[in-house]
Amino acid sequence: MCGILGCVGDEVSSVLVRGLKRLEYRGYDSYGFATLGDSGIYVVKEVGKIGDVRLPSSKLGVAHTRWATHGRVSRENAHPHLSCDKGVAVVHNGIISNYLELKRELEEKGHKFTSETDSEVIAHLLEEYLKDHGLKDAMLKTVRRLKGDFSFIAMFEGVEVLAGARFGPPLVLGCGSGENFVASDVLAFIDRTDDVIFLDNGELVILGKGFYELFDLDGNPVKKRPVKVAWEVADVSKKEFAHYTLKEIHEQPSTIPRALIQDDGRLKPFLEALKGSPIYFVGCGTSYHACLVAKYLLAKVLKKPAEVILGSEVGYYSELMDGGVLIAISQSGETADVLKAVRMAKAKGMKVYSIVNQVNSTLARESDHFLSINCGPEIGVAATKSFTAQLALLELLVMGVAGKRPNLDGIGEAVGSVMHDELMKEIAERFKGSNDFYFVGRGIHYPIALEGALKLKELSYVHAEGMAAGELKHGTLALISDGTPVVVINPKDETYNETMSNAIELKSRGARIIGVSDEPSSVYDYHVKIPKLDWYAYPLVEVVPLQLLAYYMAVLRSEDPDHPRNLAKSVTVE
Ligand code: AGP
Repeated sequence: MCGILGCVGDEVSSVLVRGLKRLEYRGYDSYGFATLGDSGIYVVKEVGKIGDVRLPSSKLGVAHTRWATHGRVSRENAHPHLSCDKGVAVVHNGIISNYLELKRELEEKGHKFTSETDSEVIAHLLEEYLKDHGLKDAMLKTVRRLKGDFSFIAMFEGVEVLAGARFGPPLVLGCGSGENFVASDVLAFIDRTDDVIFLDNGELVILGKGFYELFDLDGNPVKKRPVKVAWEVADVSKKEFAHYTLKEIHEQPSTIPRALIQDDGRLKPFLEALKGSPIYFVGCGTSYHACLVAKYLLAKVLKKPAEVILGSEVGYYSELMDGGVLIAISQSGETADVLKAVRMAKAKGMKVYSIVNQVNSTLARESDHFLSINCGPEIGVAATKSFTAQLALLELLVMGVAGKRPNLDGIGEAVGSVMHDELMKEIAERFKGSNDFYFVGRGIHYPIALEGALKLKELSYVHAEGMAAGELKHGTLALISDGTPVVVINPKDETYNETMSNAIELKSRGARIIGVSDEPSSVYDYHVKIPKLDWYAYPLVEVVPLQLLAYYMAVLRSEDPDHPRNLAKSVTVE
């Protein structure tokens, strides 16, 4: 959940700052840099988002943006962490589960710790092993002592090399011309090189200006050639938009059709798998909502049941899950709860199929088969374009099993027609002082209600609840009073009449109704118009105005929609 970066070349200071800013989506509690100068390792650390940092000129350095797990958010706990002799600086992502025991052992040897983090043990262990060993052996001895899920990069006083190790969270080597990089994500250095090597778990690297050496835990060389990363990965600018989140919402007219372009050979195993049973879908947050949509698609199109389980809950279903197919959905492909579920399923001999955006992710690599939603980098912490791309691909798959193709030919235009920025801004202005929002829908629109509420919570910090419209009368109706805003998702399909009755019940109790529908109605205080589509395509156009509502609520409440507090884009801890 942190972002780490190391660069070595002729002059890396500005590259480090620029690169770390691109990793901020991974965490933004605090940040830090270490560079190498004539008088040793120079460190800058601060709490908060990366400001206007000016580092001294340097040929190498490391950088870190933090999402706190061990130790509160403070300057002391920000990375890099130094060894006692200030000869080693370390940036770390993940968790060292045995750090307390290592810390005790190192303290007994006289090491003094200056932070509350688990990460600091790495710097002290390296210092300890460097007393009697060369750099490579010190790295190997250090990682053999560490338990948990971690990756880290270390730099050393007086040596113009960096060292990195991957034992869990991703680590990518960038092979530039006269410069090399190592980072949590390609985005950190994509403006310098698109030749990359993805480290696998258990691999280490030592890199200098014109060389790199990969090796395994036994010290044996690992031979890998750089691969070119796709052009989409390089598209990381905000363009004319104020925030990445807004840009990504507006990209959906082109990202949704792109998700439908799939290779038949890669689709085939998924189509076969969906014919089997039992079928389990697993995901977290927004991706979980995509799984719920899949459940409705399967029920209606294929008339078959599917279990949808939250990644973090799968462990409690382990007795039930014994055979069948697991379909894991994750934008990042690095969500720890999903990976844990996948590993559990594989251990039970189940086949794992995943739907990811990051094709080089751990999930893609650990699955028997994977498909890409192909929507390009999603930098905003809130999932927007990845959600609609997941839905489009699920529609393609489920209809494909039925021997059909979804009727989504004009979907790009349809999604373009629901970019109701002005209307959603007006609604946000009207309700920006509200403390509670409700989102309701029935059938396939229920997961969209959940998603609308999640977007509003995470971007604007307004309490919101998404629910099946029919459940209102079982309790939540008691919370509706004069002026309560309720978003009613009500396209003209089989759910229309009953949802309309719910809207009328809500209105008679004082609610202000924001109706998302292809039919106008006097019940709605605001009508958010969507085009008439086939039933399964409605979610693709319903959710977009809800994303815009959450975005404008955040902006009008002076919150930063790209960096919601306490959150990070890929949740690599359980
Ligand atoms: C969505 O807006 C959230 N930021 C979050 O719920 C996210 O969808 C969840 O953490 C799952 O991420 P993944 O798709 O990368 O697995």
